[in-house]
Amino acid sequence: MTDDLNAFLIRLRLYSGVVLFVYAITHLLNHSLNVLSLDAASYAKEHYFRPIWKSQVGTIALYGSFIVHVPLGVMSIISRKSFKISTREWLQIIFIILALFVFVQHVASMYLLTRTFEAQIPYEVLYSFVLFDPNEIVASTILYTLMTVFIWVHGSIGLHNALTFRMKSYSKNFRKFLIIYFGVPILGLFGFWAGLKEQSLAMYFNIQAGNENFLMSVVSKAVPMEAFPSLEMVDALTLKYYPVFVLALLALGLFNVLRTKYFGQIQITYPNNMAIKVPKGTSVLEASRAAKLPHKSVCGGRGRCTTCRIKVASSDGSLPQPSIHEQRALDRAGLDQSIRLACQLKPVANLSVTPLMNTESEFDVVGKAHELSGKEQETVILFVDLRNFTKLSETTLPYDVVYILNKYYATCGKAIEANSGRLDKFIGDGIMAIFEAGDSIEKNCKEAVKAASEISKQIKLLSTDLSKEFSAELKCGMGIHTGQSIVGLMGYGDTVSRTAIGDNVNVASRLEQMTKAYNSELVISKQVAEKAKLKKGDFVEEAVEVRGRNEKLDIVSIPDASQIQLS
Ligand code: FES
Repeated sequence: MTDDLNAFLIRLRLYSGVVLFVYAITHLLNHSLNVLSLDAASYAKEHYFRPIWKSQVGTIALYGSFIVHVPLGVMSIISRKSFKISTREWLQIIFIILALFVFVQHVASMYLLTRTFEAQIPYEVLYSFVLFDPNEIVASTILYTLMTVFIWVHGSIGLHNALTFRMKSYSKNFRKFLIIYFGVPILGLFGFWAGLKEQSLAMYFNIQAGNENFLMSVVSKAVPMEAFPSLEMVDALTLKYYPVFVLALLALGLFNVLRTKYFGQIQITYPNNMAIKVPKGTSVLEASRAAKLPHKSVCGGRGRCTTCRIKVASSDGSLPQPSIHEQRALDRAGLDQSIRLACQLKPVANLSVTPLMNTESEFDVVGKAHELSGKEQETVILFVDLRNFTKLSETTLPYDVVYILNKYYATCGKAIEANSGRLDKFIGDGIMAIFEAGDSIEKNCKEAVKAASEISKQIKLLSTDLSKEFSAELKCGMGIHTGQSIVGLMGYGDTVSRTAIGDNVNVASRLEQMTKAYNSELVISKQVAEKAKLKKGDFVEEAVEVRGRNEKLDIVSIPDASQIQLS
């Protein structure tokens, strides 16, 4: 299977899992309404939840996701190359195998009743099924409770793993997710138990009143008699074939692990004739890690940098072609064909490699290796530049220039810090500031625009002040942009400091330079304007070419930043 197809299938499993997780949330929230009453839960089911999931889109999304997610999950289990997996992964696998036993039966029965027999199943009917056999009430309750917990844990682990790597703000918002991870199943289970209790009481009082067939009368009102043989068949088939399915799954998984261990190993040789054996299809970076060899991997093996690059000296067979992803990274770095990314290359034959990036670094002794690696995050960048600085330095004595510059730095610095910005660096008469303290990108954009407005006001005052002693008129140009950049500690020796780099930082700088062409004080990207909720003014809005970007960028040019108003 090519890496691209593999990556596609992983994404498909993830997205289908997300749909099923969303369904589980709505399903459990619906259950939770049983705490109020059976009627309330049934009403919400019929009027709110069912219309969503029974619509054409809902049906395709739900059953399509189920049909896709289960086989892809099975494939991921039987294609394992080793049982050396984390406890979390073990729980995820074992829990879903146990839960599916009840779940498949539940889903198939509900599908038959609601789709084939067009029956409407209010909650009182569901609970009547559970209460039918007095000898099995406790067992059924425990089974349904465990099924809910197991499925939920399986989904939560999957979502947690996916969001940890894909959602930048996940760790920041982890507490909010904890509310979902724990709150939703607790509410759902309380609802389930409350509904069961309500229906048990109804059964008890009816039997006391002589209505021995209470449960049957409830069920028969909703479920046509001809549905019962089909339901019994579903139960019988699940009981008969599910254990066979699980055994086959385990046997295939075990077979693959043993096959990989005894027949599917390849050897990777590093410099100094250091050789290690790994299962075919293991990435070179995973192999280095397994052998505890130092190997740079700044992005953590996600194909987002090129620091894990290796030179392939020789190979016993042809190498898998680079995926589109890997090729793009190699092209961008201008690397030739003999260079590959260790995290992306999964050899199927013996090979010799040389990691190319120096793993010995003075940074490693700083003790903040994770920060030194940098991490990708959405930031808001402000650039400020003093206009006509060259002319000023030509016409003013050097010590006076220092005096003026320090006043200018202090003025801008105070405005930036007063709006939760962080001064990143001074480059001659230029200033770069990062806004990342707020809990949302909207807030950071707002703070950056407010800082720019404040700088504009204060620079005008400073200019008036200085004009008494110097002939200099101070004016500045500013640019603001937002987007993903790599933020981390960079530098050398005593000059290591936290900063941001990336295309979006360059764009912010270019927007600042555009203020000259627009004869304005501030140029911001439209993204920033929208997120900061900039009130419409007499501003130029345009789509412009920005060096280093393929597409045009929508910008807003503001002649006088001190006039800015935010809503
Ligand atoms: S570790 Fe970043 S591309 Fe391999």
